[in-house]
Amino acid sequence: MNEDFNFNVKKERPEEIYQNIFDYYTEQTILQYATSKSMKKIQEKITLRALEILDHTKKNYIILDAGSGPGFTSIFLKTLGYKNVVALDLISDFLKIFDLKDVNPILADMCFLPFRSHIFDAVISISALQWIYRDINNKSMDLKLINMINSFYNALKPKCKAVIQFYPKNKTIMENIGKIIVKNTDFDGNFIIDNPNNPKKRKIFLLLKKN
Ligand SMILES: C[S@@+](CC[C@H](N)C(=O)[O-])C[C@H]1O[C@@H](n2cnc3c(N)ncnc32)[C@H](O)[C@@H]1O
Repeated sequence: MNEDFNFNVKKERPEEIYQNIFDYYTEQTILQYATSKSMKKIQEKITLRALEILDHTKKNYIILDAGSGPGFTSIFLKTLGYKNVVALDLISDFLKIFDLKDVNPILADMCFLPFRSHIFDAVISISALQWIYRDINNKSMDLKLINMINSFYNALKPKCKAVIQFYPKNKTIMENIGKIIVKNTDFDGNFIIDNPNNPKKRKIFLLLKKN
């Protein structure tokens, strides 16, 4: 797949600098993120693309927004008419900024989802996976990734899909994620890369289909 395509982001991003996500997401960075109009706009645009990739979503779908942050995606899904949205994040302060009562906020780790099997019609995760898997030499990240993917698999109804948009640092990390999923889970799937050769516009999505 995409054999002629390569990338390596030189700039160090927060997920490479901070071992512990709680050290980066302080009151100040959380507020900065949540009140950024441009960030909201970008995340909504990515959400629209995720819906397009999921293909034929229905307004009565039960959708999990995994790693919801302040809820840009969840709230946007609601305004688009999706009736049943669940916003889930690891950091409680993210879930307190906006009124999220209509999107059922849940404080939890997306690698250990607190749900019964076969609940969701779709999982959408925007810009969160790079916090979970970012170092090919750290085997605990392999385990977290496997837990996350298997949690998604378990929470999804049969024949349903997850779409995960993320920002891997390089192609090796992206491909490793693909290999770990193929080896350790029952999902079928593929990467979808928009604007592969334009670093500013590049968006990477992982589409996972449950049998
Ligand atoms: C860059 S923000 C994106 C937030 C949101 N998806 C958006 O589009 O605005 C990354 C989010 O992923 C969340 N996150 C990272 N690891 C997580 C985990 N293991 N479980 C749940 N949320 C996680 C962070 O707390 C943060 O809110």
